[in-house]
Amino acid sequence: EKGGYPHFMLKEIYEQPQAIRDTFRGRMREHKGIIKMAGVDDHIDKFLNAKRLVILACGTSWHAGLVAEYIIEELVRVPVEVEYASEFRYRNPVIDKDDVVIAISQSGETADTMAAMKLAKENGAFVFGVCNVVGSSISREAHAGAYTHAGPEIGVASTKAFTTQITVLTLLGLKIAKAKGKISTSDFHMHLEELRLIPEKVEEALKNNEHVKKIAEVYKDASNCLYLGRGFNFPVALEGALKLKEISYIHAEGYPAAEMKHGPIALIDEQMPVVVIATRRGHYDKIVSNIQEIKSRKGKIIAIVTKGDVTVKELADHVIEVPEVMDSMSPLLTTIPLQLLSYHIAVMLGKNVDQPRNLAKSVTVE
Ligand code: M6R
Repeated sequence: EKGGYPHFMLKEIYEQPQAIRDTFRGRMREHKGIIKMAGVDDHIDKFLNAKRLVILACGTSWHAGLVAEYIIEELVRVPVEVEYASEFRYRNPVIDKDDVVIAISQSGETADTMAAMKLAKENGAFVFGVCNVVGSSISREAHAGAYTHAGPEIGVASTKAFTTQITVLTLLGLKIAKAKGKISTSDFHMHLEELRLIPEKVEEALKNNEHVKKIAEVYKDASNCLYLGRGFNFPVALEGALKLKEISYIHAEGYPAAEMKHGPIALIDEQMPVVVIATRRGHYDKIVSNIQEIKSRKGKIIAIVTKGDVTVKELADHVIEVPEVMDSMSPLLTTIPLQLLSYHIAVMLGKNVDQPRNLAKSVTVE
């Protein structure tokens, strides 16, 4: 059932090229210049008239929501707010009929996300579900939705659900931008073309597996780890840190790279590994100076870079390359080595990768 892989997590990491393809297959219709999503088409007025979008989720799905915030705001130019479902539901939130709420959940059974979406519905909002499990409670409770089509995700650490959630939300952003006339036809096509190439690029990123394993060997005994990223890759830093925490039990924190100087930089010494997402398109010069700040305090740098990078390569202790891609889609690639890194560290430490202590696949209690 693990298809020859030692763990479900590794199998699911490797399934990502196919899972992403399955997510956009049938939806991207380049020859017609459209994206087909029935759940959006049937309620297009809600999306066109929405004064803002509110995304509700927990854990990894919340991180996908943060990536979507950056993508949708850039494409559609409407404000997007991303909320922890557990906070939203208990604070008498300001929400009304002009809001479109997007509830993101792999399992579709997360209690807090379910309660938050019900509250939004009671307040008149239109609720759109992004779930992986077909027929799940959240998918049934939503007014409409789009499935991620990632296939069953068994490992407690979410992997392919995350990248397919980002894929669906990218399609959603492009579709609304098109319907609102916020994107030119050529730009729209360029985005679709770029998305179509993602599965091959994920394959390529996966080829670094052995290299990532060697890096894991060096840092497996660390007791802390920092993850830094900017822009579209800030949420990827959060996600990388969550992945390491939950399966290896190493304390890790994700930060927007520029926040370093407001506190976390005090933690840096020669014992501290810092994973930096330093791809070429996204605020590259700023990231390079963040790396220099860490180096001058003797921190160890593991950098995720764009293929062919030279500048960061000279500064970092280790680099892991990912293929070139437009900035907004880079999370789909930069996430891959971070998943592999946490996987290998957890295996080397002898942890139960697929069923980490204290965690369940769906959190149906609050
Ligand atoms: O099924 P959901 O997407 O609603 O689950 C949300 C979180 O419980 C989940 O993403 C959790 O954080 C994962 N274990 C992370 O790998």
